[in-house]
Amino acid sequence: MSALNKIARTLVSNRRGILAADESIGTMSSRLESVGVEATEENRRIYRELIVTTPRLSESVSGVILADETFHQKLSNGRTFPEYLDDLGILAGIKVDTGAKPLAGALEEKITEGLDGLRERVKEYVRLGGTFAKWRAVITIGDNVPSARAVRANVHALARYAGLCQEGGLVPIVEPEVLMDGSHSLAKCQEVTTAVLAELFEELDLLQVELDGIVLKPNMVVAGSSSPEQPTVAEVASATVETLRATVPASVPGIAFLSGGQKPEVATEHLGAMQHLDPLPWELTYSFGRALVGPALETWRGEESNRAAAQKALSDRAVANAAAR
Ligand code: G3H
Repeated sequence: MSALNKIARTLVSNRRGILAADESIGTMSSRLESVGVEATEENRRIYRELIVTTPRLSESVSGVILADETFHQKLSNGRTFPEYLDDLGILAGIKVDTGAKPLAGALEEKITEGLDGLRERVKEYVRLGGTFAKWRAVITIGDNVPSARAVRANVHALARYAGLCQEGGLVPIVEPEVLMDGSHSLAKCQEVTTAVLAELFEELDLLQVELDGIVLKPNMVVAGSSSPEQPTVAEVASATVETLRATVPASVPGIAFLSGGQKPEVATEHLGAMQHLDPLPWELTYSFGRALVGPALETWRGEESNRAAAQKALSDRAVANAAAR
């Protein structure tokens, strides 16, 4: 078993999943402000410390994805975040993309940036204790989109990122997110997700990325969030697994879903329903952001007296997702 394969397997096995706490400074700041907390570097640190010090987190969380700012910060006990996670038996991950920007020639669509200097940054993150990385590409469904050029540009960037991470010793989480925004149907989401994943695996093959040393982080196949026709849990589970079976090689050790704006309980129900659609060639787990930490942030609201209740809110979601597996 290669070192990359071992890390990838650790991330997705034993009924654990990945916690995405890698919101950019801008996104994290807005989320703090939305609950009445001033968006300072120190408040972002305090909030992230609350998350990683949640009791018994390592029983349901195998890895935590951090943002660059957090990766260099310390907890109150003087340990850096990667060091503290390592003490707990949780792998430290790092978001290495620098965000999705308008794509030239298709300004309503996005291309994720961050390849420049990535080889050197990977070395530095490994030195600081990182074991895996994340890069998120976003694909929008709408009138005449996604365009072929947006899909091609994004899967190409994902494959180049994955190759650079593997070369430097980080397991790449490969995240092509087809957004829930819009009024499209479940069938449309399935059509677009199938096309994106098929092209992604062609590109990963072309760039000689080792598939047994990645974790795929896709969207679940759902209807657009403003669609009047919302599918049942069973329909989402079956459409998602059908899409993955059609596109994801069995050599990929695991698939860790993003939540994408689904209500936390609904994302958990979808994950649970998929586990019953045997036999699956890969582990299916979670790499949720909002669906794991959303209730904790709402509960905390910057008050030290709410700290324990906020950690319980996170713990409850993590335990429910582990149980759904
Ligand atoms: O890149 C997106 C995050 O890692 C997952 O966030 O579960 O809130 O969609 P989400």
